[in-house]
Amino acid sequence: MTSVVRLLKPALLALVALLATGCSKADWMVRQSAMDPKGPVSQVQFDVFMATVWLALVLFVLVGGALVYAVVRYRERAGQADAPPPEQGHGNPLVEIGLIMASVAALVVIAIPTLEAIWYMEEIPAERQPDSKLAAWYKGAVPAEAADEVLTVDVVGKQWWFRFEYPQLGLTQETKRTVPNELVIPKGKVVRINLRSEDVIHSFWVPKIAGKVDMIPGRRNHMWIQADQAGHYYGQCAEFCGDSHAYMLFRVVVLEPAAFAAWVESQKAPAPEPAPGSLAAKGKQLFAQKTCIMCHRVAGHYEASAGFGPDLARVASRHTLAGAWLDHRDPAAQAAIDAKGDTEVSAPIDPALQRRNFHDWIGSSGVLVDAAGKPLIPQDIKPGNRMHYYRMFNVAGLRETKTTLTQEELDAIVEYLMTLK
Ligand code: CUA
Repeated sequence: MTSVVRLLKPALLALVALLATGCSKADWMVRQSAMDPKGPVSQVQFDVFMATVWLALVLFVLVGGALVYAVVRYRERAGQADAPPPEQGHGNPLVEIGLIMASVAALVVIAIPTLEAIWYMEEIPAERQPDSKLAAWYKGAVPAEAADEVLTVDVVGKQWWFRFEYPQLGLTQETKRTVPNELVIPKGKVVRINLRSEDVIHSFWVPKIAGKVDMIPGRRNHMWIQADQAGHYYGQCAEFCGDSHAYMLFRVVVLEPAAFAAWVESQKAPAPEPAPGSLAAKGKQLFAQKTCIMCHRVAGHYEASAGFGPDLARVASRHTLAGAWLDHRDPAAQAAIDAKGDTEVSAPIDPALQRRNFHDWIGSSGVLVDAAGKPLIPQDIKPGNRMHYYRMFNVAGLRETKTTLTQEELDAIVEYLMTLK
């Protein structure tokens, strides 16, 4: 018996250590926890998961118990090493059929809630909304065509960021107003999410609200979400899509309906004009001269861009940059909030940190060079990102050119971006 204990001890310790690694309190584990559902879709997914866990636990105890019993009951006893083996049998119809029946029963028990959940997630529950008109929600703040029962958001995945469009609310590529990095939705509203990709396969996942559906080039997928608590949620691309897949994040910002209506209006308005003669005004000029406009659009200032890169008209009002990888929020204030366990509450933007993030992000694209043309800021924020590989082909001669900035020019562009709220 002591030998059994000697063997079990390290095995148990290893198991405990293995389990403990799953209990990390690290930031992203808490914020992207599928074990903390905050909406009906994630709740249903969580319930199916837990039903499966409990059933598996029962099976584990039964099978493991039978195994332990057999090992102990039929172990080799002292002085029996040379005894002849006991009489051998083969097959037991009762046990075999019983096990097959038990397995079928277990699968049926899991299949019922699983199929229910699949149907629940597949059908967008317009009819489940007690208030059937968006117009009532937004108190007339949105046009009549928005008075559908479900809010629709078109999501496009790109290497490596997410672009959000609201066709009912006039925020689209066609109206030259799109929203990168932060998906803003009203609390308690059913939201239809249309998923597309413009390059490779990505996957849309907000663990606390719903997950996850792939975004596949040339194909339209959809899902629906609903968040029942206002606040910030953390989303993540969940399909390997290249260098910066791990840094392809987004936020879901859930607002009260009135705040959402105000947000929609703010997104439609043109960007504010910087004060004449200011550093920001110079930055606005440089934004065009230094070809930032080839990829980035600024509604009201530079609308002719193809919108290959993120829209920047409201870039300073967002809490994040670079595919939501760079966070502008006051870290100390956020740590204090997190310590209380309020992971959905967001600290305010720290302007100094935001300015530094803008500076480092643009600088890391290789535009800031020394006399020898060597980049001064290494590209270590998001490996492989398109800001870095930016190359302009001169149309006349197909000559490759590379944009560079002096420190002063970079500062001016950062000041310009800081005014885009
Ligand atoms: Cu996009 Cu991984």
